[in-house]
Amino acid sequence: MHMADLELPSELPIIQAPMAGGPSTPQLTAAVASAGGFGFLAAGYLSPAQLIERIAAVRALSDAPFGINIFCPSTPADPESVGRFAQLIQPESDRLGVALGEPHWDNDAFDDKLEIARSGHVNMVSFTFGCPASEIVDHLHSADCHIAVTVTSRQEAQVAKEAAADLLLVQGTEAGGHQGSFLDLAPNVSPLLSLLEEIRESVRLPMVGSGGIMTGAEGAEVLKKGAIGIQLGTAFLCCPEAGTSAPYRRALLRKTYPDTVITRAFSGRYARGLANQFALKYGGSAPGAYPEIHHLTRPLRAAATEAGDASIPNLWAGQGWRGVTSQSARAVVRQIAIDLRPTS
Ligand SMILES: Cc1cc2nc3c(=O)[nH]c(=O)nc-3n(C[C@H](O)[C@H](O)[C@H](O)COP(=O)(O)O)c2cc1C
Repeated sequence: MHMADLELPSELPIIQAPMAGGPSTPQLTAAVASAGGFGFLAAGYLSPAQLIERIAAVRALSDAPFGINIFCPSTPADPESVGRFAQLIQPESDRLGVALGEPHWDNDAFDDKLEIARSGHVNMVSFTFGCPASEIVDHLHSADCHIAVTVTSRQEAQVAKEAAADLLLVQGTEAGGHQGSFLDLAPNVSPLLSLLEEIRESVRLPMVGSGGIMTGAEGAEVLKKGAIGIQLGTAFLCCPEAGTSAPYRRALLRKTYPDTVITRAFSGRYARGLANQFALKYGGSAPGAYPEIHHLTRPLRAAATEAGDASIPNLWAGQGWRGVTSQSARAVVRQIAIDLRPTS
């Protein structure tokens, strides 16, 4: 099954991005779906059992189609570079009175999650940090799942096309959270609109644009470049349905930090977040070592969050973060829809 003419299964071309690590909840996915958008559940960092529970929770709240998002496995990192970084951040661990985590490699239960996606009758499976092999794509297609792959360059889009993906999630540099890059692991600095133009000209696959979109007017610019939809993460972070922690919400809404930065300090993979103290202090020295650094810093981030301290945890946010509001997910979707497709 190849769906070159894929249409989004939702009434509106508005997609709620999967947001692993807390913000994604079944309530958010279901609320976006009920408002006419398309919602993703994030499978990242969850155990297989938690993922099964969350899929069931969305189903209990809504009949609408939804998707799940899976992290593709990365290559194990050089333990010495991880060890050096561990020494560097040890003072933070001493200060918080929490031991650093064990910086191990794992594949985030990739195979189990694929099987859950296949048997869970989800409408779409999106991937980030890689492109699944074509056998995996075929296997999921045989269960009627559409396949979306996050891409940050023309070359990655080509790889996704060769694997028979149905949809490209084109992620510009403006995006909050991890960059999905998998061929060139340097920071993605390509703005969304030019990336869409470049990919549209060379790779013929339906595209969804993502990164920094907060308003319908911004979304309309993305659709004008040929995208069939827009995917937004940051816009939903402070919705009551999101699982975003209290210090994270406060930092966004009170504008505690003046800007965002792209940093590997928290996880060993480039991601855009608010420029808090940890990002600024360690951004320059963190090696490319995902998920090892993610596991190493996790207890610090958890303890600081627990203590209401926003200076240590990752506060992922896209470049449009100043426009975040605490409205309901339905209100966010509806507001964006008003300006997205001007009636002609
Ligand atoms: C808090 C947060 C968590 C994210 N987690 C994921 C994830 O688990 N999987 C994924 O594919 N993308 C993830 N992203 C990236 C989004 O898919 C998307 O590219 C991004 O949110 C778009 O930019 P925006 O935040 O400016 O709307 C995350 C983004 C944020 C803000």
